[in-house]
Amino acid sequence: MTDTTIEQHQQSSYFSPRTLATIIAVLAVILAFSNTIRNSISSIVPKQTLRTMSSTAAPALQITKRPWATRGHADHDWLYTFHTFSFASYYDEKHESFGPLRVINEDRVKAGTGFGTHSHAEFLIWSYIVNGTLEHKDSLGNLENLKRGEVQFTSAGTGIRHSEYNRNRDDEVHFLQIWAKPNKRGLKPHYETKKFTDEQKTDKLVRIMEYTDRLGNQKGEDAPIGLQADLSMDASILSPGKSVTHEVVADGRRKIFVQLIMSKRAQPKEGGARIKIGDTVLGEGDGAFVEGAQGGGKIEVESVGDKPAEFLLFDLSPEEV
Ligand SMILES: *[C@@H]1O[C@H](CO)[C@@H](O)[C@H](O)[C@H]1NC(C)=O
Repeated sequence: MTDTTIEQHQQSSYFSPRTLATIIAVLAVILAFSNTIRNSISSIVPKQTLRTMSSTAAPALQITKRPWATRGHADHDWLYTFHTFSFASYYDEKHESFGPLRVINEDRVKAGTGFGTHSHAEFLIWSYIVNGTLEHKDSLGNLENLKRGEVQFTSAGTGIRHSEYNRNRDDEVHFLQIWAKPNKRGLKPHYETKKFTDEQKTDKLVRIMEYTDRLGNQKGEDAPIGLQADLSMDASILSPGKSVTHEVVADGRRKIFVQLIMSKRAQPKEGGARIKIGDTVLGEGDGAFVEGAQGGGKIEVESVGDKPAEFLLFDLSPEEV
């Protein structure tokens, strides 16, 4: 009798609905707190460790080469040009823009010719002079002769009119004209020119253009030109055998574009400048679309040709604007 009582008591202590309910409640509390616990542990672990951990897990960069001769091309005699993105009579729905980057034209303008007065609005436009002299004249009253190393930047905003002309008698002017879409409309038209020397760029990455939100209070000769788009542009002249490392400029997913500048009207069949990004080798005039870059990541560019490689590297918001 006593035994039975004990047995019954034991059984009821294991299986009473009340005990089961308690066990379930305790399990629920543990489950609910496990996320909080995990999060508080990760906030104690140093950031660097997490970054290394996540970058090992991150997918590899996807690099898509844009061979020089696949770009849009026009030879109008006075103008010899390559278009990386749709421009003028060149249209390719696959190459309309890349993040805020909308135009990269590699232009050679013959002596005594140029782009007559025309207007722009709601675009950020800059010219990176490679060789020769380009005259810039605009409706804000600016007149300048731009030479190698100079970057002329115009934020067209509500609207400007300008011309770009080669006043030289004999020599052509070679420059890259780049456009980006601003993230604000109706900006006050703005104009600015800065020079970045070969010496500054040799075997280094020099920041030429910088998003105003990242620029902060940087001012003066060496400061990049500020622009109203989530875009950074660096330039480098990289000697054969050297490499430079770009540190991704912002958190989260980023797009990178690299453009190797040409030394001639066509890519040399052998030799010339070459750069390597991951396993991809670019020759003169080739570009590379790099996807899968992440904040905290790094991108290495190595000069693998037999001439110094002058190239531009863009770090872009992934959003198409
Ligand atoms: C620069 O332009 C001049 C005149 O057109 C030319 O003689 C020279 O070879 C060019 N230099 C380069 C590096 O293209």
